Amino acid sequence: MFEKERREMRLENQVAYITGASSGIGFAAAQRIAADGATVVLIGRNTSRLSEAANQCDGRGHIVELDVTNRQAIDELMPQVITKYGKPDIVVHSAGETVLGALHELTEAQWDQQFDSNVKSIYYLNKHLWPEMEGVGGSIVMIASTASFGAFPGDAAYVASKGAVLALTKAMALDGAKFGIRVNAVCPGFILTPNLQGYFDGQASPDDAARGAGSAAPLNRLGTPEDVAGAVAFFASSDSSFITGASLLVDGGLMAKVPV
Ligand code: NAI
Repeated sequence: MFEKERREMRLENQVAYITGASSGIGFAAAQRIAADGATVVLIGRNTSRLSEAANQCDGRGHIVELDVTNRQAIDELMPQVITKYGKPDIVVHSAGETVLGALHELTEAQWDQQFDSNVKSIYYLNKHLWPEMEGVGGSIVMIASTASFGAFPGDAAYVASKGAVLALTKAMALDGAKFGIRVNAVCPGFILTPNLQGYFDGQASPDDAARGAGSAAPLNRLGTPEDVAGAVAFFASSDSSFITGASLLVDGGLMAKVPV
C-alpha cells in the first residue's frame, strides 16, 4: 500500500550533501531534494553563487565553500561541516568539469586536473562522508555521463573519467551493501547547463552545435537540469530502495539509437 503523502516531503528529516551545487545539474538536484523536504548542504567554490542557489532551496539550503580537489581543505572542513549540519543521508557528486583533447594532446597537468575534479574528489569526500553513513545507511548518487558508455572524439580524459565514475559506482555499491549504503549513477546526455553552453560557445557556430546536440536525441531536444534532478531524487528516495550499483540514462534516448 502506498502512502498518499509520500511523494511530497518524502525526504523530510534527511540531510543531503551536494557538490557542484551552485549551477547546472547540482543546483537543480539541490532545489528538487529540498522541495522533497531534505536539508541540503550545497558545496561549491563560489560563495556568492552558492548563496544565491541556497536561497532558492525552500529555506533548507546551507552553503559550504570548498574546492573538491583540495584534499587539505576537505580534511580540515568536512568534520566541522558534518557536526554542524548532520550526518549525510544523501550525497550527490555533481561537481565536475570537461578538459577537452585527444589523449596525446593532453599535458599531464590537464589529465590530472580532469581526474582530480571528476574522480579523485569523490575519493576525498567519501573519506569523511562514507564512515558517517555506515550503520545508518543512505544513498550516494553519482553524476556520470553517456560518456561512461560511449566516447566523444577529442575528449579522452573526460570519457575515461566518466568511465571511472561508473566503475566506482559499482565498486562502492558492493562495499556499501552491508551498511545499507546504496550507490547509483545518473548518466545525463546533452543537458543545457553553463558547462554545455561553454562547449557550444567554443564551436564555430554555437547555435548549430546546440541544434545538432538537441536533434541527436530521439526526443529531439536538449535536456534540462530538472530532467536530471528527477532521476537524482528517485535514487535518493526509498522508491529506489532495492536498487544499487545501477545506472540510469537521462539522455532523451540518445544511447538507444543505432546511428544511420
Ligand atoms: P556546471 O558547470 O553547470 O556545474 C558544475 C559545477 O561544479 C559548477 O558549479 C562548478 O563550479 C562546480 N565545480 C567544478 N569543479 C569543482 C571543484 N573542484 N570544486 C567544487 N566545485 C566544482 O555543469 P553541469 O553540466 O551541471 O555538470 C554537472 C555534472 O554533470 C558534471 O560532473 C558533468 O560532467 C556532468 N554531466 C553534464 C552533462 C551536460 O550535458 N551538462 C552531460 C553529462 C554529464
